[in-house]
Amino acid sequence: MNNFIFQNPTRLIFGKGMIAELNKAIPADKKIMITFGGGSVKKNGVYQQIQKALQGREYIEFWGIEPNPAIETLRKAIALGKEHSIDFLLAVGGGSVLDGTKLISAGLKYDGDAWDLVKKGAYHDTVPMGSVLTLPATGSEMNSGAVISCHETQEKYPFYSNYPVFSILDPETTFTLPPHQVACGLADTFVHVMEQYLTTPGQSRLMDRWAEGILKTLIEIAPKIRENQHDYNLMADFMLSATMGLNGFIAMGVTQDWCTHMIGHELTALHGLTHGATLAIVFNGTLRTLRQQKKEKILQYGERVWGITGENEETRLDKTIEKTASFFQSLGLSTRLSEENIPDTTILEIERRFNERHAAFGEAENVNGAMARKILENCK
Ligand code: NZQ
Ligand code: ZN
Repeated sequence: MNNFIFQNPTRLIFGKGMIAELNKAIPADKKIMITFGGGSVKKNGVYQQIQKALQGREYIEFWGIEPNPAIETLRKAIALGKEHSIDFLLAVGGGSVLDGTKLISAGLKYDGDAWDLVKKGAYHDTVPMGSVLTLPATGSEMNSGAVISCHETQEKYPFYSNYPVFSILDPETTFTLPPHQVACGLADTFVHVMEQYLTTPGQSRLMDRWAEGILKTLIEIAPKIRENQHDYNLMADFMLSATMGLNGFIAMGVTQDWCTHMIGHELTALHGLTHGATLAIVFNGTLRTLRQQKKEKILQYGERVWGITGENEETRLDKTIEKTASFFQSLGLSTRLSEENIPDTTILEIERRFNERHAAFGEAENVNGAMARKILENCK
């Protein structure tokens, strides 16, 4: 196990009706700006619950943070926040609203253009923020990461700031999610775990078992959720799995990969494909391409998560890789670039971008432009 320092300061406020805790969670003297997406919260009653919880409090609202939050929109929110001397942000929505609000929280403390911060990769002088999450997927509710897009240049980059001081997760808010978003959220959570688990073998028995526990939970609940998205206990397990999948709890002392994500971000930047949908395609290519490097961990995952034993190692590897793709297919997601009409020119452009940035992703730092190209060719 590698050395590590672990601290996760986000207070998790979880369960039915817990939006009512908002008033207590935000200090009384704060000037609040609430940030929203495109309006789903007005249709499912989340907005009304927030209004009720914050009755008598003064706040302004910023609407329109889009999926894959764009700097072009976030600049407007930062200007509005500065104009009103905002010193507390409340993000209400999916990962995109939360991520966008993390950049706003940094931008409010920065004099220059907020895209500079994204290019820097991190900025920790921020206005505090809390969140009400309505889409289980990203883990943004309990981590310090964000992913910000620029429409003008078709770029999308990770950015790190501070953790939300609190996040409210009421599984009932997820009942109105479009099925495709549920599928993408399940795939995203699955691949988050994989990025931290399917790496160097023998680093931590405990991290391995926790990661496998989340994977097995997802495999158990996914078909049931697709049948009935209004089952509170199923959605509660989904929501908590997504949070635990990317809040640092399964990352202690182990190496991480993230090449599937970095390639997936390019597919979103270039084609607008939903984040989870990119992963359901690219991850299969990662497994096929890095099969030998990741062999020991793939075999362990196959045996412990899918019960694939016996036979020879090559057959077990084949079966495990196939099982993974069929899990994504069972969610109704594409697992090949061709199904999404992604052309070969995109593969070449991603190779070019990775080379230009001297990319070296993955636990072995060997996913450069050429390797990304191989991975994508293995998803054709
Ligand atoms: O905008 P509204 O109207 O709210 O609608 C949203 C949006 O259209 C809708 N939605 C959310 N909750 C709903 C709902 N519709 C009905 N009922 C509800 N309860 O769903 C659509 C998608 O929302 P979005 O926030 O974009 O989805 P998600 O949570 O998957 O976030 C994706 C973004 O997060 C980034 C991704 O790259 C992408 O930009 N990620 C952030 C990470 C992090 N911060 O750590 C890690 C992830 O790997 C990921 O990269
Ligand atoms: Zn993700």
